[in-house]
Amino acid sequence: MQSFYVTTPIYYVNDRPHIGHAYTTILADVLARYHRLMGTPTFFLTGTDEHGQKVQRAAEAAGITPREQADRTVVRFQDLWRRLEITSDDFIRTTEARHTRVVQQILQDLYNRDEIYRAEYDGWYCVTCERFYTDKDLKDGCCPEPGCGRVVERIREANYFFRMSAYQDWLIRTIRERPGFIQPDFRRNETLGFLRQPLNDLCISRPKNRLTWGIELPFDADYVTYVWFDALVNYISAIGYPEDRTRFERWWPATYHLIGKDILTTHTVYWPTMLKAMGLPLPQTIFAHGWWLVGRDKMSKSSGNVVNPMAFAERYGVDPFRYFLMAEMTLGQDASFTEEAFVRRYNADLANDLGNLLNRVMKLIGKYGGGCIPEPADGAAGGDEIALRKAALETAGSVGAAVEGMRLDEGLARVAGLTREVNRYMERRRPWDLGREGRLEDTATVLYHAAEALRIVSGLLFPVMPNKMAELRRALGVRERAPDMGRLQEWGVLGAGVRIGEMRSLFPRIQDASGTDAPGGTEGRRTGGAGRRPERSKEEKVEITYADFEKLDLRTARIDSAEKVEGADKLLRLQIDVGGEKRQIVAGIARHYKPEDLAGRTIVVVANLKPATIRGVESRGMLLAASSGDTLRLVTVDGDVPGGSAVS
Ligand code: ME8
Ligand code: MG
Repeated sequence: MQSFYVTTPIYYVNDRPHIGHAYTTILADVLARYHRLMGTPTFFLTGTDEHGQKVQRAAEAAGITPREQADRTVVRFQDLWRRLEITSDDFIRTTEARHTRVVQQILQDLYNRDEIYRAEYDGWYCVTCERFYTDKDLKDGCCPEPGCGRVVERIREANYFFRMSAYQDWLIRTIRERPGFIQPDFRRNETLGFLRQPLNDLCISRPKNRLTWGIELPFDADYVTYVWFDALVNYISAIGYPEDRTRFERWWPATYHLIGKDILTTHTVYWPTMLKAMGLPLPQTIFAHGWWLVGRDKMSKSSGNVVNPMAFAERYGVDPFRYFLMAEMTLGQDASFTEEAFVRRYNADLANDLGNLLNRVMKLIGKYGGGCIPEPADGAAGGDEIALRKAALETAGSVGAAVEGMRLDEGLARVAGLTREVNRYMERRRPWDLGREGRLEDTATVLYHAAEALRIVSGLLFPVMPNKMAELRRALGVRERAPDMGRLQEWGVLGAGVRIGEMRSLFPRIQDASGTDAPGGTEGRRTGGAGRRPERSKEEKVEITYADFEKLDLRTARIDSAEKVEGADKLLRLQIDVGGEKRQIVAGIARHYKPEDLAGRTIVVVANLKPATIRGVESRGMLLAASSGDTLRLVTVDGDVPGGSAVS
C-alpha cells in the first residue's frame, strides 16, 4: 500500500514561533489527518533546527549557551504544537545524537568518495542567510536572497566544498522530466531560472574560530558543518537512515516536503543534489507556499511584526484559527493576516452559516423528532431532497480532489458552499411550518436530510477542526469520533431513531472586534493606517439597470507575463491572452504581486474599456481586484475556463 510521508521545515530555535511556523505545521497536520482517515499509512515529521550562526547569536544576545537557547526555545514550539492539536509522529531536534551521528556518517562517506574536497575560499558571506556569494551573485552589493538584502562580509579562508556543480545538468533534466517535483509550477520555473546560472560547489564547513555551534566534521576537527547540510538531513535521519533500512524504505521517498518560499533554493537545489550524491531517490514533491504578510510586509521574527499564534488561539479557539489559516491562503500565494479578516470569516462561515444551521436543526429535531434522528419517508422526498443529496455527495468528491491537488482553500470554500446550500434548503422547505401544520412525514424528511448533510460537512471539515467537528458529530448522535472518509460519499448513514446529543453553541458569534488590539499583539507596528482606501458608504451607491451592466464586457484572461513599469513603483505591465487575442494592460498591483508570481493565472478584465496610456505605456483593458485596507487580491475564477470566456 502507498504511504504518505509529510514534513515541515525544522524551525530555528533563535526565537519563538509565530503564525508563519504555525501555518506550515497546521497544513502538514491537516494533510496527515486527512490521509490517516483515508486509511493510508502516514508519517508526519516536524522538529527544530538547532545549530548554526543564528542560534549561536541569539544565545550570545541572551547571555546563555546555545544549548540552553535551544532547550528553552524548543519547548515553545512543542507547547504550541500541543495546543494546536498537531499530530506529528516524531519531533526531531538536530542536536540529538540520532541525527548528528547520521550527518557525520554521510559527510565521511561523501568525503571518502571525493564528493567533498578542501579548498581556499575568497568571497562574500551573509551572516543572516549563512550563505556564500560571488561578486556576480550580489544585488547592489548586498545579499541577493529575496527578502534579505543585508550587508555582506568579505571572507577569506580554507573550507570544505560539496561538488554540487557536477549535478547541475542532471538536476535541470530531472526537474524538467518530473513536473510534480517542485510545486506550484511557478516555483519550479523559479528554480529552473536559478539553474540557468552556473551552479557553484557548496561550502559545507565553517571554521570553529568563527562558529563553534555545529556538528563537527568527522574528518577535520577544526570545522563544524554548515547548518543547511546538517538540517536537510533531518528528513532521512528521523526515519532511520542509514541503519534501519526497513523503516527508512517504508517512508522514503517523502510524499511532501512542505516549505515556505523563503527556503526554495536549499530544498530544490542543495537537497536533491545531496541525495543524488548519496545515491538516494528524491522526494515526490517539494511544495512551497507563500508568505503570511502583515500589511505588505512578510511576517518575520527579524521585522518584529509577528502575530503570536498561541495568544490568538487562546482568544478565538484553536479550531477556528486552524480553519482561518487554511481557508484564507491559496497555496502558493501570499496572504495577509488581519484580525478583522479573521472575525469576518469566522462570523460568516462558522457562526452564521454552520453554527446557526446546526442550532436550528437540533432545536427542530428536539421539538418534532423527540430528540432522535427522524426517519425520512420515501414518499416525502422530492426535487429539493434530490438536489441536496447530489450537492452533498458532489461536494464530498470535489473536496477530496481539492486536497489531493493541494487546493485546500478551494476545498473549504466548497464545504462552505454546501453549508449555505443546506440553509437555502431549509428556507425553501420550512420544516418549522411543516411541523406546525402537522405534516410530520415531511418534517421528518427535511430534518433527516439537513442532519445527514451536516454529517458530511462534519467529516469534510474534520481534518481542519477536529474538536469542533467531533462535537458536531456527537450532537448528531454519531458514535465514531472521527469520520470514515470513505463514507462521506454515501447518503443515508445517520441511523433514524438514534438519540441526538446535547446542543450548545458551536461557534458563538464574535460580537465586535473593531478597536480591539490583536491578541497578544501584532507585536510592534500596527496594521492599517496610511494608504487605506475609504470604504464606499451606503449613500453613494447608485442603482444601475441590467442594460447598464450589459454594457460592460467582462472576460477572463490568462496572464502570459508581467513586468515592472520603469519609474512607476506601483505599476505592472501585463501581457494577457483574451481568448487568443493578445493584449497589454497596465495595473496598479506592483505592491501586492510580484511579476514572476502572475504568469499562468486567469483573471477577469473589463475588455471594452477605452484604451489609455498610463505613464507612457498603452493599456487596453482593466483587471478586477478586491481590496480592503492594505490588502489587494486579484479577482480570479473558480476552476478552469479558457481565456476570453464571458463573465456575467
Ligand atoms: O528556515 N509566512 O527555519 P525558520 C509563511 N531552519 N510561512 C512562514 C513565515 C511567513 N511569514 N515565516 C516563516 C528555517 N514561515 C530553517 C529550515 S528545513 C531543513 C530548515 C515558515 O525558523 C515557512 O515554512 O526560518 C518557512 O519556510 C519556515 O517557517 C522558516 O522557518
Ligand atoms: Mg527564516
